[in-house]
Amino acid sequence: MVSHLGRYCPSYHVFPAKGWMNDPNGLILYKGEYHLFFQHNPDDTVWGPMNWGHFVSDDLMHWEELDIALCPDRHGTIFSGCVVYDSGNTSGVVPGGGLVAVYTYHKEDADFGQQQTQGLAFSLDRGRVWTPFAGNPIIKAEDKAGARDFRDPRVFRYMDYWALVLAAGDHLCFYRSDNLVDWRPSGIFDFPFPGCVMECPDLFPLRESESGEDAWILIISLSTGAPAGGSGTVYFVGAFNGSAFSPISGPRWLDWGPDNYAGSTWDTGTERIFIGWMNNWRYARDIPAAAGRSRGSMSVPRKLSLLNSRGSGWVLCQSPVIPEGGQSEGMRAIGPLAVGQARSLGTVPCHSIQKIRIERKDEGPIEASLRWTYECGAALWVLVRGSGGELIIDRSDCGAVDFNSSFVGRISVPLARRTNVFEATLLFDTTSLELFAEDGASVASVLIFPERTDADMALDIVAGDDGTTVSVSWRRVF
Ligand code: FRU
Repeated sequence: MVSHLGRYCPSYHVFPAKGWMNDPNGLILYKGEYHLFFQHNPDDTVWGPMNWGHFVSDDLMHWEELDIALCPDRHGTIFSGCVVYDSGNTSGVVPGGGLVAVYTYHKEDADFGQQQTQGLAFSLDRGRVWTPFAGNPIIKAEDKAGARDFRDPRVFRYMDYWALVLAAGDHLCFYRSDNLVDWRPSGIFDFPFPGCVMECPDLFPLRESESGEDAWILIISLSTGAPAGGSGTVYFVGAFNGSAFSPISGPRWLDWGPDNYAGSTWDTGTERIFIGWMNNWRYARDIPAAAGRSRGSMSVPRKLSLLNSRGSGWVLCQSPVIPEGGQSEGMRAIGPLAVGQARSLGTVPCHSIQKIRIERKDEGPIEASLRWTYECGAALWVLVRGSGGELIIDRSDCGAVDFNSSFVGRISVPLARRTNVFEATLLFDTTSLELFAEDGASVASVLIFPERTDADMALDIVAGDDGTTVSVSWRRVF
């Protein structure tokens, strides 16, 4: 795993050895390696001239950071984009087959402000060395005004051609091509709530778990307006006809926590695995830097599945790809508790995967609050309010919070099922909690910055109804 540990360094989440990290880019599984490129400023711990940093892994859990893959050139700095395998050398630049990156060039223009175009680069050595295409840029906006927000291309193979979707402010533009170089517009998707800036679209088919019916998932990141404030990610379920997308459901929030943005997916051939930048543009540049030298990390990778249930409609579920290497496991159970009764569940490891189950004796929604207290006194609360159909996560007393006034705010995660049992998987790492409830249909990613995280933490519960029983099982990670 990432080994440069120090203060505020996650233990099983990907983050760079130094510099700044934002969006995951170019996610591809190629010759047994998962590639994770990312928006990277190697020279500072704040956003700046963007490069593509690069990690590889053979299991999505242990990552190795490689040299920078793409750096700014005369067309601009390197914004988000994707990588495809051009097996048949349709592009003409990868004889025998190779990797092709399609990404955004970003440039400041004295008269027009920011201007964005799309570029192409290729690699013939498993993604180590990249050569920008001599004919860049390959796609330009129709006019200078349209080039202000014109970015984050995602390319995929459709039938016998290439399809591309990119974000253009309040709409998406679709293109198609036979050779990855010459693109012609094929359609538009207008976001139903005008006025917001869309970023980092991803589009792929996914099979509904029960019926086996295929649907297309469109993931879009929105720069503002997320439920926990600031930036966040939505998805639509719908159909894609090779030229444009038509939704049948959505938008729905992909993650109810404040800290999941600009995510996209790997296609493994059989599965779709999502990873997001675990941060929020509202305060990203102010969060404590890991070991004082790097800022920003990714979420854990998450396997996606699709459900179409009578009560909830189309729902995308996320199941974390959980790190192995747990050193010890434990399990505690207590109950039945009386209303208002506080009880300790003992200690649980800071770097751990915990499974919590709360049950009330009689029919009716759960009411309970859970508190994890670190050795340094920092405390994180999760309030389960089955009656209101929500979870409330409170990080306001959980270590460093003063670096930005918008870091503390209400984090509410809706619960669709109002049963007398609540179950969740919680992934604690040094600087984060990722919570998966209702079989991955309700997810929240939450950054936290407790001062010290090398010891166990105390877990307490206060019961909100009579006869509450609780059990927690855990696996220590690293
Ligand atoms: C999303 C984003 C993208 C852009 C990149 C720049 O976080 O704003 O739209 O390509 O970051 O770093």
